[in-house]
Amino acid sequence: MQTFPPALLEEWMRLYYFAVDADIGSSGVSDYSLAEVRALLGIGVEEMDAVVFHDSQTLGGPGVRRAAARRWAGGEVDRVMVTHGSTEAIFLLLNALLRPGDEVVVLDPVYPGLGDVVRAIGCRLVPWTLRPGNGWRPDLDELEDVVSPRTRMIVVNFPHNPTGATLTPGEQDALLAVAARAGAWLLWDGAFAELTYDAPPLPDPSGRYERAVSLGTLSKAYGLPGLRVGWCLAAPEVLERMTRVRDYTTLHLSPLVELIAERVIDGADRILEQKRAVARRNRRTVQRWMDEQGGAITWTLPAGGVCGFPRLHEVPDVEAFCHALAREQRVMLVPGTCFGWPGHARLGFGGSAGALEEGLGRLAEALRAAAAPALV
Ligand SMILES: Cc1ncc(COP(=O)(O)O)c(C=O)c1O
Repeated sequence: MQTFPPALLEEWMRLYYFAVDADIGSSGVSDYSLAEVRALLGIGVEEMDAVVFHDSQTLGGPGVRRAAARRWAGGEVDRVMVTHGSTEAIFLLLNALLRPGDEVVVLDPVYPGLGDVVRAIGCRLVPWTLRPGNGWRPDLDELEDVVSPRTRMIVVNFPHNPTGATLTPGEQDALLAVAARAGAWLLWDGAFAELTYDAPPLPDPSGRYERAVSLGTLSKAYGLPGLRVGWCLAAPEVLERMTRVRDYTTLHLSPLVELIAERVIDGADRILEQKRAVARRNRRTVQRWMDEQGGAITWTLPAGGVCGFPRLHEVPDVEAFCHALAREQRVMLVPGTCFGWPGHARLGFGGSAGALEEGLGRLAEALRAAAAPALV
């Protein structure tokens, strides 16, 4: 049995997600209700009533798999596995492909759910570091330096949680070439793939290199985290290895969840449209707010996703500051310690404009109070 490190981000969410008025720390957009989804996509009650709660299939029922294949896998159904959020896909994939002692190159900072599972398996992590001084821009030369023939897998997530950084199409090609030269697996976590601002979404890498595996989710850009649907696109042999792990964990999804997911994927652009518009406006709001803070907090404008990773320059202990902000101001930010970067915090801007403005207002006051000279 693996020994898991404490999941610091999940622990933070457990403490504060349900206990604040303004969530400006999460990485998703605001969530749809079932009624909204049904109205947007025209899902009738009769369709839902027709669902029979039999077991579904291990890789996903035929309807939802076909829908996912049409949208993301060039119609190749046998390359699709539908999972309980991408969290399950990450767990199954890493356990299927990695063994203790393997060398794995992982972005730093990284979404903890990726790095911690690699660590729990007993692999040796080699960081590919994104640097704030460089606007968090991934440096492909540095990747070349850390990848070697010993590298078993390269783990990336673009657009990136928590910084919002991404690659250009040319850099994505270079990443694939580095992986191919090393013969390494590439885990491409595309949780925010369809939420970009200044450039179109990057092409899916899984059909372009036989050892590339890409993961996606309805939790982030789609505003459906409680539906718990993600997917993995990979060669059928990889999905077969993942199946051997799934047979001891979740077995399959619920047919009701699969019905809704199928309809969401078929109508994806309708579901995404209004969330993208809100994200675009909110990103401008945060940039204006940053400009007004006199350098106390600075960030790099995210290229994708709905979170950034600002530095809080005048706060000596950002984690203590975030605890106080949540308890006293009822505003949730996520301290950078959850990502191993103590001077920073994750700021999420995917929620409603009202909650964002309220949260930013209270954060500005707390920052001013933190910077005020102590009374003597
Ligand atoms: C980059 C990334 N990958 C995976 C996940 C897991 O999300 P879910 O299991 O809800 O699909 C998240 C959630 O925040 C994420 O940010």
